[in-house]
This record gives sequence, C-alpha cells and structure tokens, in this order.
Amino acid sequence: MFDVTQIRKDFPMLRGLKMQNKDFIYFDNAATTLKPYCVIDAIKDYYENYSMNTHRGDYDFAYKADEAYEESRQIVASFIGAKKTEIAFTSGASMGLNVIAYGWKKFLTKDDEILLTEAEHASNVLPWFRVKEEVGCKISYIPLDEDGKCTPENLRKVISSKTKIVSLAHITNVLGFENDIKELCKIAHEYGAIFVCDGAQSVPHMKIDVKDLDVDFLTFSGHKMCGPTGIGVLYGKFELLDKIDPLLLGGGMNSTFSLCGDVSLLLPPTKFEAGTQNIEGVIGLGAAIKYLEKIGMSNIEKYERELRAYLIKKIKQVPNIILYNEKASTGIVTFNIKGIHAQDESSLLNSKGICVRSGQHCAKLLVERFGTDATCRASLYFYNTYAEIDAFVSALMEGGDFLDAFFN
Ligand code: ALA
Repeated sequence: MFDVTQIRKDFPMLRGLKMQNKDFIYFDNAATTLKPYCVIDAIKDYYENYSMNTHRGDYDFAYKADEAYEESRQIVASFIGAKKTEIAFTSGASMGLNVIAYGWKKFLTKDDEILLTEAEHASNVLPWFRVKEEVGCKISYIPLDEDGKCTPENLRKVISSKTKIVSLAHITNVLGFENDIKELCKIAHEYGAIFVCDGAQSVPHMKIDVKDLDVDFLTFSGHKMCGPTGIGVLYGKFELLDKIDPLLLGGGMNSTFSLCGDVSLLLPPTKFEAGTQNIEGVIGLGAAIKYLEKIGMSNIEKYERELRAYLIKKIKQVPNIILYNEKASTGIVTFNIKGIHAQDESSLLNSKGICVRSGQHCAKLLVERFGTDATCRASLYFYNTYAEIDAFVSALMEGGDFLDAFFN
C-alpha cells in the first residue's frame, strides 16, 4: 500500500528539517531529488567495506565491487526492459545525449536534418547545434500545439526523407507534457530516422519499457530518481551502440592498442566506460531503483498525478496567477504571478521554507513562447504531500511586503 507518511521516514532530509525556521518543503524535484537512507547506506557500505576499482583486480574485494557494479547494470536493464549489454553508465542524461550526438555525427551529411522542439532542455539542443556546425546539416523544430505539446500530427507536418534524427524529451522539464513517444517514434522510423528520447523527467516518475516504445536511444540521470549525482544511463539498441564511436577513450574500454596506433575497442556497453567509473554512483543508482520498485512505479505515477491535479485546483485560487502548463498531467507546474518577477517570488517562497526553481530552467528556446524571461516551477515527487501543497498555496496567497508594493 502507498503510505506517504511511511515513505517520508525513508528520507533523512524529511526528518523535520527547518529552512528559514520554517518547515522545509521541497518542490524542486525536476532539478534533483532527495536521497533515501538505503541509497546513502549502499554508498557507505561500498566505501567502508569494498572500495576497490572495478574490472581490474584479481582479489576478493575487487571482485565484490565488480559484482555490485554489474548487478546494478542488470537492475537498470530490467527496470526499463532492456538487455544488460544495452546499458552504459554515464555521468548523467547530458553526457548520454552528447555521446549519441557525437557518435551519430559520422552518419550525417549537410543535406540531412535533425528535428527537435523549442521545449527541449539545453542538453538536448546544444549537442545537436554542435553537430549542425560541424556537419553543416539543418536543425528544424516540430511545432508545439497550443498547449505546448509535441503531437504526432505536428511531427508529420515537418518530417521528411531528409530527417535522420528526431530527438525529444519524454516529459519536458518546464512544460511538463508527456509526449506520446511510442507514436512519435513510429513516425520517425517510417521515415528511416533514429529516435532519441531524453528520459530525464520521465524515467523517475513512470514505468518505461524501451522495447515497447521502440526508442533507439534513451538517456536519464540517477539524481532525479533518488540516486546519487554524477551517474546516469545511456540505453541504446545494441546494434546501434555497436555502430557509434565513444566520446571518451581510455582504460577499461579497449581490448588492444599498439605502438603504431592501432586500437581495438571492447563491445558495448564497455566501450563507453573509459577510465575508472563512478562506482559509488552505479551502486547507489542500483539501490535507488530497487527502492522505487519496492514502492511501485505505477503507485508513484498515480500519486503524483493526483497531487498535481490538487495543486492545479488550489493554485488557480491565487490572485493574479499565470499558469503556463495547466493541461499537463505530470508533477511539473510552471507559473508566475502577474507583475512579480519569478526570482522575487521564489525568494519569497524561500523565506517561507519552500524550494521551487525560477528562471529559464535550461530551456531557453521557450522564452519567446512564454513572453517572459523567467518563470517559477514547482515540481513534485512521491514524497510530497497534500499538506505541503496547502502550505505552498497559502504562501503564494500571503505574498510579502515586497509583493504588496505591486498591488497596493
Ligand atoms: N534539468 C534540471 C531542471 O530542469 C536541472 O531543473
């Protein structure tokens, strides 16, 4: 049974901490999530009991580190319905997207086109900008519908035989819409394009099956799903991972190299893991996934969507509220209060113990759509509560001295 009171006991930062002498309310989960004891304990166990390098040592403790590392790879693979050989560890979703862009560049020519949307995070834009600059190919944007969603119909309006890559977030980090990845991916494949999915905001919140979605690549980050920072996952269909060159070269990913410069690389996923890896991160991510699975991804998704519906209902009562993504269904709610700069609003919320993010949220192509250079974003996770939403909405209603100045 899903019991949020019990769940909150799993998180040290939810043990009654105060911020600004107020109860700490964390609504910045799209930026990063809190970590449960079990993740912290798994990392501590590694450092205290077998803190060896992996894939190099012939002694028992090193073998234990190898086992824990590879067990995490299996946990990740099962979590998203992939094969273990299709899971490469990275530093995060950004690195995964950079690896794909770098790796696929050699298959592109100046006549080719890459399709994105204006709602993409910088990590799913800038690596493609570099590919465009180096190859001379074109980047086009799939128009968003009036709510801010990338629909299959709109993809059909712009895709052509020139399209070689469609790269989209499953859930966008500011608008928070869930894209119909299965359908979008099907259309991309009809045109012979590969489909890259940025899963940073979806994998932590819902059950994903890469074989069902049929995406060619998927990237995500551990720290947005109760895991450590500095660890992420690059999933790719094995035959595609096999075709691309790794971004980084070094120890542990080659089978031989000679004085004359001949190099042969190991097979995926190892060829993407040059140098000593973030072993504690991998082990911590495995622990995080086990924890999420114990709660149940469908329970997490259901609860978050209910929380969101409640937040939307309540926030609409706040005078002068501007909602930028009312119709989305995920835990990301982006807003402003008319006449108040987003950063002033988030500072006011800070003074009441509440964490939200303000600014452009690394999605700078959206500025024009919003007609403002900054918004506030509240983003929920399964440990948030209805009571926290009540406190948040009351804080928005109360304003503060500096906000009163605008309305008096
Ligand atoms: N990508 C993270 C966010 O949206 C950092 O806040």
